[in-house]
Amino acid sequence: MALESIVRADSTGGTEERDFASLRPKSFAEYIGQKELIENLKIAVQAARERGEPLDHLLFHGPPGLGKTTLAYVIAEEMQAEIVCTSGPALERPADLVGILTNLKRGDVLFIDEIHRLPRIVEEYIYPAMEDFEIDMVIDPGPHARTVKLELNHFTIVGATTRAGLITGPLRDRFGFSLHLEFYGVKDLQTIITRSAGILSTKITGEGSESIAFRSRGTPRIANRLLRRTRDYAQVMRRDAIDEVTAIEAMDINGVDEAGLDRLDRNYLTAIIKQYGGGPVGVSAIAATLNEERDTLIDVVEPFILARGFLNRTSRGRVATALAYRHLGFTRAGQEELPL
Ligand code: ADE
Repeated sequence: MALESIVRADSTGGTEERDFASLRPKSFAEYIGQKELIENLKIAVQAARERGEPLDHLLFHGPPGLGKTTLAYVIAEEMQAEIVCTSGPALERPADLVGILTNLKRGDVLFIDEIHRLPRIVEEYIYPAMEDFEIDMVIDPGPHARTVKLELNHFTIVGATTRAGLITGPLRDRFGFSLHLEFYGVKDLQTIITRSAGILSTKITGEGSESIAFRSRGTPRIANRLLRRTRDYAQVMRRDAIDEVTAIEAMDINGVDEAGLDRLDRNYLTAIIKQYGGGPVGVSAIAATLNEERDTLIDVVEPFILARGFLNRTSRGRVATALAYRHLGFTRAGQEELPL
């Protein structure tokens, strides 16, 4: 039951990526939120530019939809460099990586999304490339195998991952920066929504943008997606601006509640409460109950409900919190006995 939802932060790919391209900030000046991280990046970029050097390799980690790809584009733009985008799973063989690396010019940015899914054999090739800007190519594999060293131009890898814990130590050590993206606050999301509405030539009130921001799960990608759906609704219902009522009606019909939880979030928490007595329960058991992928639950569902206090993760498994019971309208005798 791969449940489709508009509040899922994972990209739906193709068309959506194109649609969002116009909404993406292109420079630090346009970028809203992640203040501390942006300050750090600005200093790194200015320092590298003043020295005329490429930027050190950078690793971004954090839940999907918070702008890791966007930031890679911003960095390339600020460094006045070109960007090449790929992903861990797309680099199946060392030759795929070598082909890309040998074409990079000095200062270019290579963006590798889902870098935790880089095959082991490819990862081994990336170490000397990152460290010494050279790769050892094996020629004529077999008894007469020879290796030749290929010199590369100094480039910058920007890696992105939703699962920092799955990156091997040797790979992590080769990044000069390791930066975590946080969920966005409602005020920042409201500013992003207002900016996007301007780009889309859509009228929106302060209450309208706030209602959408509240339900965007701390995630710009979701905020922009909700804005688009609300804009469609406003148009069809002949409302001339997105006000609070319009925003709430539009999100209600899309199954997004006032805390930004969608049906899958509510099903997830309800399963823990009803099937497993509130937990603790292992994520694989929940995945089986919901007929969902375990990784989807870990990457996409859990980060937000954990951050918002609906879920606790303990050594014995997942536990629904008192807040989850209240939000979903469940009562429980002896709530003070809630397991920690
Ligand atoms: N659109 C998506 N993310 C954004 C951000 N962080 N700042 C401005 N616009 C955005």
